[in-house]
Amino acid sequence: MTANELRSKYIAFFKSKGHAEISGKSLIPENDPSVLFTTAGMHPLVPYLLGEKHPAGTRLTDYQKCVRTGDIDEVGDPSHLTCFEMLGNWSLGDYFKKESIAFSYEFLTSKDWLALDPRKISVTVFAGDANAPRDEDAANYWKENGMPEDKIAYLPASDNWWAAGPTGPCGPDTEIFYWVGEGLPPKGSNKGTDPENWMEIWNNVFMQFNRIDEKTLVPLPKQNVDTGMGLERTNCILQGKTSVYLTEVFKPIIDTIEKLSNYTYGTDAEKDKSVRIIADHSRSAVFILGDQKGVSPSNVGAGYVLRRLIRRAVRHGMKLGIDRAFLAEIAETVIENFKCAYPELEENREKVFNELTAEENKFRDTLKKGEAEFQKLLPNLMKNPKKEISGKVAFRLYDTFGFPLELTQELGAENGFTVDVEGFKEAEKKHQELSRTQSAGTFKGGLAERSEITTKYHTATHLLQAALRQVLGPHVAQKGSNITEERMRFDFSHPAPMTKEEIKQVENLVNEQIKRNLPVKMEIMSLDDAKKSGATALFGEKYESNVKVYTIGDFSKEVCGGPHVENTGNLGTFVITKEQSSSAGVRRIKAVLK
Ligand code: SER
Repeated sequence: MTANELRSKYIAFFKSKGHAEISGKSLIPENDPSVLFTTAGMHPLVPYLLGEKHPAGTRLTDYQKCVRTGDIDEVGDPSHLTCFEMLGNWSLGDYFKKESIAFSYEFLTSKDWLALDPRKISVTVFAGDANAPRDEDAANYWKENGMPEDKIAYLPASDNWWAAGPTGPCGPDTEIFYWVGEGLPPKGSNKGTDPENWMEIWNNVFMQFNRIDEKTLVPLPKQNVDTGMGLERTNCILQGKTSVYLTEVFKPIIDTIEKLSNYTYGTDAEKDKSVRIIADHSRSAVFILGDQKGVSPSNVGAGYVLRRLIRRAVRHGMKLGIDRAFLAEIAETVIENFKCAYPELEENREKVFNELTAEENKFRDTLKKGEAEFQKLLPNLMKNPKKEISGKVAFRLYDTFGFPLELTQELGAENGFTVDVEGFKEAEKKHQELSRTQSAGTFKGGLAERSEITTKYHTATHLLQAALRQVLGPHVAQKGSNITEERMRFDFSHPAPMTKEEIKQVENLVNEQIKRNLPVKMEIMSLDDAKKSGATALFGEKYESNVKVYTIGDFSKEVCGGPHVENTGNLGTFVITKEQSSSAGVRRIKAVLK
């Protein structure tokens, strides 16, 4: 079976169980300041797990591209990936543990579906703590399906409690593992007794709670199921391979790297690691650049992660002796292999090539500059009798000029210097702690924040868009939106800065609608009907065949997932605090409700 077949089978199986197929979403979460990327299949579904009605119903299935870069430095081993696909199925207040476990077991073991050997499957369930009791129900349902008692491990919340963020929907989960050791697992072996030889392939989360803050967990209005199966890993075990990099998901990419470097994968452990890093990072970079809401390399947020991925890939390319811009050639292979499942990659092909190559060349320049900087430092360094470059200096070269430690070591060695690697690591750790504290701020407010104030901002965003279209013209289209508890930010297409009068007019128009206390109504209709009715939709966004349309009196009509207030009367006073350029042809407004 190939990854493409696995993807199709998964969707077909859950369709046969009454699930509607929905389309996966962008890698860049809309209206969610808590995370930089979509990190799980459930991420775009958070509002629905919290109780919003989904237009496609209560049983859903999809495949979703995801990016997780928390452990970027670990990528390079045979299993870690920064970009992966998640196959998912959801019950929104429909079935619960019994059916979810039965579906998973059937899909994995039935001869009609994956036909995996049941003897090589084991599971974990939640052991219980102060938040929720031991999950006897889940364990019993496993037993009903034929899972022997000794293949069920009861593990604590660190293993069997799933939450996408510090706040938001969460609950106990049951995880499914496949034996990757030699032969058959010994009797009594499970994830608890032998963590190394059992690989997680699927996670079924029983989302029953909403975490409001550290101390408060409230039951959700409905009991939901959220499952996620790792496509690359499951594909790997189905093919009996020891590493995802040996499957056809990565093989063509690795072939391209081999051609570019004249190195044969599998002949040198250190070089193999570089190959895996290039393969993973370049695939992630292509998915991020080629996303329907693609990001460009920059020094902040998602753009910075993208920059790091590209730079690390280039660096490892150099280690393999590739001495020219090469990422566009790998991008070609990635697009070719994934465009069927992700047509946006093909649509954004030019952008991917151009930006990859520009960033790559820029980094090569950076390296040259770093080298020049090093030469400048040299006379001073020479005065040091220890002939050692301090960790602080090495880290400054890295942090300010993007000059990697290994290069400082290499250049140092050429001039008879060693580098204080411990000191470098210390300086790096200090820096990471600082950025962690800073990014912890990003999480404040939690995943898919739905507080009263952010709901108000959602509605104000619709009023703003309609007002902009009235004042500036119908060419105005939403290019991005981001809401926090403190403000709203809205990016839209418009060729010139807005004049003071235009800003005032828009503000007034929005405030008039607030004063009119207009009702906000939601209807579910087909995307075609929504468009015919004149509703605004996000250009380039993928929608289901049925969508939610929010109408605000006679003023605005938009396709949107919600949530929204019931009427505009108590939004407060709308004030535009900033109007600035966002990128070419795109303006950005920041506004508050006072
Ligand atoms: N949200 C869970 C996960 O990401 C299951 O889909 O593992």
